[in-house]
Amino acid sequence: MKIRLVAAKAAPSTQELLVAFVNQGKTPDLGRALAKFVGKAQATGDLSTDERAANLFYPDASGQPKRVLFVGLGKAEQRTTEKLRRAAAVAQKRAEALRVGTFRLLVSDADLGDVEPTVAGRALAEGLILGAYRYEKPTGEKAKARHAQRVELCYGGKGQKAFAQGVELGRIGAEATVFSRDLENLPGNLATPTVLAREAKKLQGANLTVKVLDEAAMAKLKMGALLGVARGSVQPPKLIVMDYKPAGYKSTVCIVGKGLTFDTGGISIKPSAKMDEMRYDMCGGGAVLGLFHALKNGGLRGLGRKVRIVGLVPSTENMPGGDAQKPGDVVTACDGTTIEVLNTDAEGRLILADALAYAKKTYKPQRMIDLATLTGAVVVALGHEMAGIMGTDEDLIDELIDAGQASDEPLWQLPLWDVHRDQMKSQFADVGNINSPAHGNGSTSGGAFLSYFTKDVAWAHIDIAGAAWGALAKDYYTGGAVGTAVRTLLHWVRSLK
Ligand code: BES
Ligand code: MN
Ligand code: ZN
Repeated sequence: MKIRLVAAKAAPSTQELLVAFVNQGKTPDLGRALAKFVGKAQATGDLSTDERAANLFYPDASGQPKRVLFVGLGKAEQRTTEKLRRAAAVAQKRAEALRVGTFRLLVSDADLGDVEPTVAGRALAEGLILGAYRYEKPTGEKAKARHAQRVELCYGGKGQKAFAQGVELGRIGAEATVFSRDLENLPGNLATPTVLAREAKKLQGANLTVKVLDEAAMAKLKMGALLGVARGSVQPPKLIVMDYKPAGYKSTVCIVGKGLTFDTGGISIKPSAKMDEMRYDMCGGGAVLGLFHALKNGGLRGLGRKVRIVGLVPSTENMPGGDAQKPGDVVTACDGTTIEVLNTDAEGRLILADALAYAKKTYKPQRMIDLATLTGAVVVALGHEMAGIMGTDEDLIDELIDAGQASDEPLWQLPLWDVHRDQMKSQFADVGNINSPAHGNGSTSGGAFLSYFTKDVAWAHIDIAGAAWGALAKDYYTGGAVGTAVRTLLHWVRSLK
């Protein structure tokens, strides 16, 4: 989907499709030439201004567009970014169904309500690009043609420059999200750790280097926890390290994403039902890769902030091969902490343990974040419309919650207390990788385990097991991987001082 900003005063055109937003109680202004047509359309009583209503009319006069689509926005005083994003996606989807190539979308200040032009531009661009997303499945048939892949976005309001900046930012974030969705939707056999590493390598660019630690490098670094998980698989594990390093940087953040390309559970094997969904167990890694896609494409342009951002994606399969680790095995993470692997299905925290400890030691970050499809329990607690967040630094958690809110990717805080940490102590090692089922708390125990490896560094853990896929369809998301947290991470790194 290509977005081209067009001057509002462009000559009335004869294009295939003109899309205008409509507000409750207001007559849409499509210019003098179309005023009579708008009046007639309204007189039919069929021009609904309800949210997401799509009404198609035919002007049927020379020199006018072939079709005019009115997309409802409801009441101006109830306008939100999410409604703008959805309305843009509704427009794109309808244009696609009409098989038009390029359509023009009119936006006025009345359409924005109280939403700032920058923020509105961002939401609209996101809706257009994410709405156009489709996973190209491998098929023996001829791939279906795509339509409505070009839009002329025509904003006639006062905040021209701000709106244009928002559109550019929205484009960068949405294209990065599309990149993540594509990787996340791939089945386990097509998205191996090797494939993720290859995709990551392509993200190298100005100020941005990518290195991949292989099995031998991990062995040298004594990453016993990550290697323990990888033992059951014939696919070689990778630790992807993406380093955005501006000259004269003053501080460092490390962002770690779980890149488990397929989770069978290992010897503590999962039931068969829906096991195919464990392709999504790399969505934390997908989010971090998406962030770096955005950074490569100018996600921090114009900010002049000097923060080093290191993205780490530990990647492996969790398989029950003949050499797989067994319940009760004790492994040693690269910081020397010993771990009793009481359940081989609690593998995400094992690969994150080594990645977090390595990040802390190597990059000495002031702050660390991790994102992971870590626990089924977070789906039970919070469902698919938000992610859980916990950690050791309230300011960091608050910043991320704010970034999530600004991106319409909500985060909800869960506690992480000393009692949770105490539950993780083991009879046979420093810590166990699960607490006793009698304790009951599934998500906070995962976070508590991770805290043994982040120690005194300000750190937040985001459990995206619910948010990564399976959300309610909402125009700009229709199923499969959500591409979650890419926009939130981009928003957050842009706010770093
Ligand atoms: N990848 C899963 C978490 C998961 C499960 C995500 C279902 C989405 C849907 C993770 O590796 C896992 O298996 N966690 C276990 C932990 C348990 C053994 C303590 C879980 O949640 O059951
Ligand atoms: Mn698991
Ligand atoms: Zn997992």
